[in-house]
Amino acid sequence: MRIALLLALPLLAQTNWPAYLGDKATAHYSPLTQINKQNVRNLKQAWSFDTGDKGEFQSNGLVIDGVLYTASPNRKVFAINAQTGQEIWQFNPANHQQGPIGRRQRGVTYWKEGPEERIFTGAGTYLYALNAKTGQPIQTFGTNGKIHLGEGVANPAPTVQINTPGVIYKDTYIVGGQTNGPGTIRAYDVRTGRLRWLFNLIPRPGEPGHETWPPEAYKTAGGASNWSGLSLDEARGIVYVPTESALPDFWGGDRPGANLFANSLVALNAETGKRLWHRQLVHHDLLDKDLPTPPVLLTVTRNGKKIDAVAQGTKNGLLFVFDRTTGHPLWDIAERPIPASQLPGEPGWPTQPVPLKPAPLTRQTYTEADASNISPTARAQTLLRIRKSGSQGAYPAPSLQERIIMPGFDGGMEWGGAAVDPDGIYYANVNEIPWIYQMIPTADPSGKPLTQGERTYKIHCAACHGFDRAGDAASGFPDIRNPKDRAQVTQIINSGIGRMPAFSALPEAQRQTLIDHLFGTEQPSNKPANPTDPPYVFGGFRRWADAEGYPAIKPPWGTLNAVDLNTGEIKWKVPLGEYPELTKRGIPPTGTENYGGPVVTKGGLIFIAASADETIRAFDKDTGKILWQAKLPFSGNATPSVYSIDGKQYVVISAGGGKSNRPSGGHIVAFALP
Ligand code: HEC
Repeated sequence: MRIALLLALPLLAQTNWPAYLGDKATAHYSPLTQINKQNVRNLKQAWSFDTGDKGEFQSNGLVIDGVLYTASPNRKVFAINAQTGQEIWQFNPANHQQGPIGRRQRGVTYWKEGPEERIFTGAGTYLYALNAKTGQPIQTFGTNGKIHLGEGVANPAPTVQINTPGVIYKDTYIVGGQTNGPGTIRAYDVRTGRLRWLFNLIPRPGEPGHETWPPEAYKTAGGASNWSGLSLDEARGIVYVPTESALPDFWGGDRPGANLFANSLVALNAETGKRLWHRQLVHHDLLDKDLPTPPVLLTVTRNGKKIDAVAQGTKNGLLFVFDRTTGHPLWDIAERPIPASQLPGEPGWPTQPVPLKPAPLTRQTYTEADASNISPTARAQTLLRIRKSGSQGAYPAPSLQERIIMPGFDGGMEWGGAAVDPDGIYYANVNEIPWIYQMIPTADPSGKPLTQGERTYKIHCAACHGFDRAGDAASGFPDIRNPKDRAQVTQIINSGIGRMPAFSALPEAQRQTLIDHLFGTEQPSNKPANPTDPPYVFGGFRRWADAEGYPAIKPPWGTLNAVDLNTGEIKWKVPLGEYPELTKRGIPPTGTENYGGPVVTKGGLIFIAASADETIRAFDKDTGKILWQAKLPFSGNATPSVYSIDGKQYVVISAGGGKSNRPSGGHIVAFALP
């Protein structure tokens, strides 16, 4: 009797969601089985919580012993009773620092030793250590509870912002972050904030990879940093780091070479920061093809033998799988030629890597057969434009001519990442939407340089706000054609806002002429062009939409996929998301643009929101069939967390919308069986 009770007890215990995306392997996996294929249709909302913030809410909450810890769209940290949705405490970094806070933080990190529990969170260029019981900064960490993330990287210290949380290895916090300086990975002492080690993602003279840059470039080059998260093999002590493009994203004339360790998967010794192996997945990137997702660690079986592997998805919807220890690819990687650059001064790179297996998860180019078929008008329009512009697939040649880039700038895969189960199956959602790519000269056709304000705008602002300054609402880039308040615009340019970096590094006079240009009061001058300005800049992020605003391609526009990584075969592929008004027109579900990731459970389910239709769904992990769906107050552009308290299983998601032209808020919604 007694023994039976004791055995029963663990079933009633809590199951935590202790790390970003579930565990340090970022497996997006839950061992819980209470909610299963048979009963999931009964799932009901258990509670909801309004953070009071509005904006993209990408946070994957942690759940530790009944408490949910999460970061709101404005980077407040909340501790919430995960059973009832009652607030326990909140921390607002705006009360603890000057300057911009940043937005869109994907989560926080938890550490415990004895009775001491800490929550690590980023705001502005700082990392804070908070007391998990009270939300107060821990005074013995750094200075009054925070450290500057750029200190020790370069002099003067660059801005480094944590979007995606770091990972704890023993008593260090390992993190990359977005930066305007050179990318680095750094490990900090969790108790004091002291820097233990640093790895240069742009190698210095004498470091391997330095030869892939012009010799002096390391002094000024930026980027190659890690913004999409990392994963840790705790037993082996290896941290896996995916990196972004080198800066500037779209012009490589000043950085001829492959540019290691940009766009690479880098395996580092977590104890020392020494490199173990690396693999570059995009050479000399000119198209912002950052490795957008944290790699996932899983175990596959091949010829009866178990292999511990690491799988890295890309914006092109490709899946690269390596032996975790040796870095040896599980399927061979081919170097495929790509179209040569048409811009003088841009050397480009002749080939790009493609795995021979698994097959890509999205179409790799746009042909006439891909013209939209949702209406005769859409079909006629898309055919016309593809005939005129042409697609050169994932790597169109840099050119002054408009091209269709497919897969588009937001994937393929994105920051939501993928889930893996112990059977070696990989579940990933992808976008399948064409975008437009075009480069623009910074001098006018006669060779006469543009006015200084125009040039500054094109070089520094147009990539986001567009050449015509109309922005791109779907990407969250505002229209700035008619600015109103000069003081406010000056403040935004000086300090940055949200995803927009600060431009305080531009000389004051240049900032003033830029602002004159924006307000239409710039005096023409005959000043020659600055020789260090790039001769060509990016024409801006633009999705290709049809006249009704839908993606200008034959559906599906967003899918959920299951890939068997034991064999490399795609198991199933289904649309993710739906436009009810198109369904009413008799069009089968198209899938929608999607941001945020899936979770797979031992109960046989995949929970995912991510779609642009304010809906969370449960799919059968074996077939891809939808077994349940529920409305959310805003689209759930985040990854759910799965946990249990007193034997009851919950699924919780941040619902903030704000992507894909949808309304935005800042809710958290939890579901459980009644
Ligand atoms: C990396 C993309 C990016 C770049 C580069 C960029 N911005 Fe922005 N900008 C944004 C985003 C995103 C916002 C909205 C931020 C928010 O509200 O969270 C914004 C907001 C603004 C606003 C406020 C508009 C409004 O309606 O609130 C102005 C003005 C502005 N930017 C001007 C500029 C200028 C001038 C430059 C060049 C010096 C520039 N931006 C460069 C992304 C960018």
